[in-house]
Formats: sequence, structure tokens, C-alpha cells
Amino acid sequence: MALTNEELLQLTDQGLCDLLNSLPLAGKGSTRTVYALDNSRVLKVAHSEAGQRANENEAHIWQLAENNLFLAQYLFPVEAQAPDFAWIVQEKAYYCLGPGNWGSFAEKLQDEEASGSFPGIRIWDLVNVNCGADMYGNSKVFDYGSWEVNE
Ligand SMILES: Nc1ncnc2c1ncn2[C@@H]1O[C@H](COP(=O)(O)OP(=O)(O)OP(=O)(O)O)[C@@H](O)[C@H]1O
Ligand SMILES: [Mg+2]
Repeated sequence: MALTNEELLQLTDQGLCDLLNSLPLAGKGSTRTVYALDNSRVLKVAHSEAGQRANENEAHIWQLAENNLFLAQYLFPVEAQAPDFAWIVQEKAYYCLGPGNWGSFAEKLQDEEASGSFPGIRIWDLVNVNCGADMYGNSKVFDYGSWEVNE
């Protein structure tokens, strides 16, 4: 049985290490290694301070998105985070976006940004390897750790 988000927060360093050794890899980025916790969640583990900053920023932006449904519909939710942002739990993408789907999705997101739908947020790094689809086929971004926030 996969651990709940609450159980993850109780793990010791050794417990986390053992868990990571047992989980399948879901992907690897420049600052974070991503493990599949189960069919619906991934654990994004920082492998540098930059990774911790990306986790912190992603968690922060998700918090902002909870008050901006327009933005929330385009993002994979962050469900939990370690107090030091060594890891975050995020909803798992069901599949990656092919070039066709990704192109029109990226265009839509950029149009929304240009028309002021996401005040205080600047989108960065919108490439297809940072986007996926949820279980309903909705295109969303899972790597928004480098987006800029001006509050
Ligand atoms: N929510 C998710 N669901 C499924 N796979 C994911 C999810 N988040 C990340 N991944 C996988 O892990 C890879 C790395 O994650 P992510 O892009 O968030 O890390 P990063 O270190 O910030 O990347 P970058 O190199 O773009 O800075 C992704 O390309 C993707 O394959
Ligand atoms: Mg990425």
C-alpha cells in the first residue's frame, strides 16, 4: 500500500531513503528526480538547492492557483510538501503531450497570460517535457517550478 501524504511527512531520512529505493522512477529533470508513489501521485525529490527552490516555488504557485481557478485548471496540483521542500507530492500525469497537443496547449496558455488571466505570474520553461494530461485528458503543466511570481 502506498504511503499517505501524512505518513510521508512522518518519515525519517532513512525511511525516505528506503522508500526511494523501492519506488519506480517517473522521470528525471535537471534539479529534481521524480518517483511514482502510486497511479495518481508522484514524489518530486530535489537533488540540489535549485531543486528545493523549484519545489518551494511550485508549492507556492499552487497555493496562489487555489485562489485563481483560471490558473488552477492548467496546473497539476501540489498535494503536500516537506517543511524544507526536499520533496513535494504532486498529482501524477497520465500521459505526456505529443508535439501536436502541446503546441496548441502552449499557445492557449500564452494567450491567457498575455490577456492578464494570471496576474503576478510570469510563465517560463513551457516546453513539452514539462506538460502532460490528467486522467480526463486535460492538458496541464507539471513543471512550473521556474515560473516567476511578483506579488
Ligand atoms: N506530475 C508528474 N506526473 C508525471 N510525471 C512527472 C510529473 N512531474 C514530473 N514528471 C516527470 O519527471 C520529469 C522531471 O520533472 P520536472 O520537469 O518537474 O523536474 P525539473 O528538475 O524541474 O526539470 P527541468 O530539467 O525541466 O528543470 C518530467 O520531465 C516528467 O517526465
Ligand atoms: Mg522539467
